[in-house]
Amino acid sequence: MINMKTNDDRTGFEKLSTTVFSEISMAIQSLAGEIASLIRERADKGQTVVMGLATGSTPVPLYRELIRMHREDKLSFENVITFNLDEYYPLEPGHPESYHRFMHEQLFDHIDIPADNIHIPCGNCSREEVFGKCADYEAAIEAHGGIDIQILGIGRTGHIGFNEPGSSLSSKTRLVTLDSITRSDAAKDFLGESNVPRHAITMGIGSILAARKIYMLAWGRSKAEILRKAVEEDPQESVPASFLQSHGNVHVITDEAAAVELTRNKYPWLVGFPEWTAGLIRRAVSDLSLKLGKPLLKLVDKDYQENGLADLVTEHGPAYNLNIKVFNELQHTITGWPGGKPHTDDQHRPERAEPAHKRVVVFSPEPLDDMLAMAGTLNRLVTQGHEVTVAYLTSGNLGVPDGEVRSVSELILEAGYSDPDSLAVKVSNDLEQKGAFDQDSASIRKLKGIVRRNEARASLEICGLRSCNVKFLDLPFYEHGKYRQFTTGKDDVSIVKALLEEKLPHQVFFTGASADPSSVNSKSFEVMKEAVEQLADESWITDCYFWQYATGNKEWEVDQIDMAVPCSPDELAKKIQSIYQHRSQMSQVPLMQSKHKEIWEQTQDRNRDTASRYDSLGLAEYEAIECFGKWK
Ligand code: GLP
Repeated sequence: MINMKTNDDRTGFEKLSTTVFSEISMAIQSLAGEIASLIRERADKGQTVVMGLATGSTPVPLYRELIRMHREDKLSFENVITFNLDEYYPLEPGHPESYHRFMHEQLFDHIDIPADNIHIPCGNCSREEVFGKCADYEAAIEAHGGIDIQILGIGRTGHIGFNEPGSSLSSKTRLVTLDSITRSDAAKDFLGESNVPRHAITMGIGSILAARKIYMLAWGRSKAEILRKAVEEDPQESVPASFLQSHGNVHVITDEAAAVELTRNKYPWLVGFPEWTAGLIRRAVSDLSLKLGKPLLKLVDKDYQENGLADLVTEHGPAYNLNIKVFNELQHTITGWPGGKPHTDDQHRPERAEPAHKRVVVFSPEPLDDMLAMAGTLNRLVTQGHEVTVAYLTSGNLGVPDGEVRSVSELILEAGYSDPDSLAVKVSNDLEQKGAFDQDSASIRKLKGIVRRNEARASLEICGLRSCNVKFLDLPFYEHGKYRQFTTGKDDVSIVKALLEEKLPHQVFFTGASADPSSVNSKSFEVMKEAVEQLADESWITDCYFWQYATGNKEWEVDQIDMAVPCSPDELAKKIQSIYQHRSQMSQVPLMQSKHKEIWEQTQDRNRDTASRYDSLGLAEYEAIECFGKWK
């Protein structure tokens, strides 16, 4: 779907040199190769290399590749000096979420870098010491001759290091206050937002810009909007990464998902002469209609000509032909029969009419992902007589706050089930001994998983699905892992494969293809994709339709929708009720103190927004719409 062709005109939009890779591994190989060459070149001359390093999930694949090069290609780091961008404050270096610990676990412990060459801002110095320590940090960078290569990620607020919006161009290493979005993004790592430190020490934007060469990396759909701002908008304090534009040697490296919002991909007709595929025509025409606030069928040639679409209307016009073509295509995405309408002409329907009763498998990375995206569709599939199985790939137990299992275990104990070997007793003992930031014991994780199973069953029951049709796969990558550090393997794939072989589905619903690569959604997709690839030669799989729902709360663009399933007001209310069963996932922040919307409110907005886009395009006006893209 992404136009990868190089086009010189994009320089008019992109103010940072940006390379989009179809595979993250290719991006990493090229970057790690360059770093390794510099390290070797300097080592031959008896010189050092000074690297500026970042944390977060973004640079992890780079660190893994450097470790591999150390082990397999004998790359030595003895001449490498590192400066990390930042550290939470206050935080002890031994804390599980400290960047000290992260860097040692993810890189330093696996290479031969001398301990004295490693520099990370102090998270545990006293307030009185902070100022002096920050000045010392700057002085140490300078004493080593400045940074040769600086690696950066980008936060959803546009921060680099922990330079939040409002940071100045000349800022140096200092103590900062974290943005609420940044703290909520870190909430999962710290097992709750209230545990996330309010401050951090970070190298300043000025310190970063002093590096000789800078690489900013961005993976996954959730970075797309902020990346576009950093790359295409003028430098501004509200997007600190945009200040990189003042540096002459910055290279942005992204995957396709993070690059979708760049003009070259989103509006390729503005940067050159794209090939007008059916998908691109749909995007251009629907975008024009939404932008002008005019229904599709009322667009005229002049609208096309005045909005950068003169080529399109010349090649494929007149306007009315384009309008009706796109109108019909979108009209044909709408169906109240997500499993296909039996015994009808299905030429213009998203799903096949036959077989009338289909076997359907819905994969959900964690309980609730399915409900947010498709509770209404699920309800229809069940009522329309299809054999639906919902398979939760992971238990989701990492997402349950301690308070929830505490009250469950107390309830069980109070009901008299207090056998010393029982799970409730073990959990209540373990909770007593658990420090604020300790990982969960096996018993706590087990009970948390049970909490989520119960919520999932209650939720599905509202959609008419009986618990015998619910599978909890509890994939090992999740049960043995922690956030941002999941590694999938053969065991995960064989579990998913076995389910597919047992069900032989006609339809599969899934998500996660463009999610942040370290996320549960992305890992779940990776496993499902591998399982499907291993089964690719089976005849049933060639007949199976794969329907993708969007990850998180970011809905598909109109041109990406292949099936739009409307919800009536009653169906939407039922959907909200089913989401509400996932009590442990509701906000832990008192709503009065937060602008944050509850998860069901966000979903309601998302589905209503899709309906209103269809309405604005001149199609029928529905209360809400759930939508899906076909995986080809
Ligand atoms: C943290 C770090 C940043 C990092 C950002 C993005 O805030 N301080 O240096 O770039 O997170 O994190 P991730 O790579 O996990 O998306």
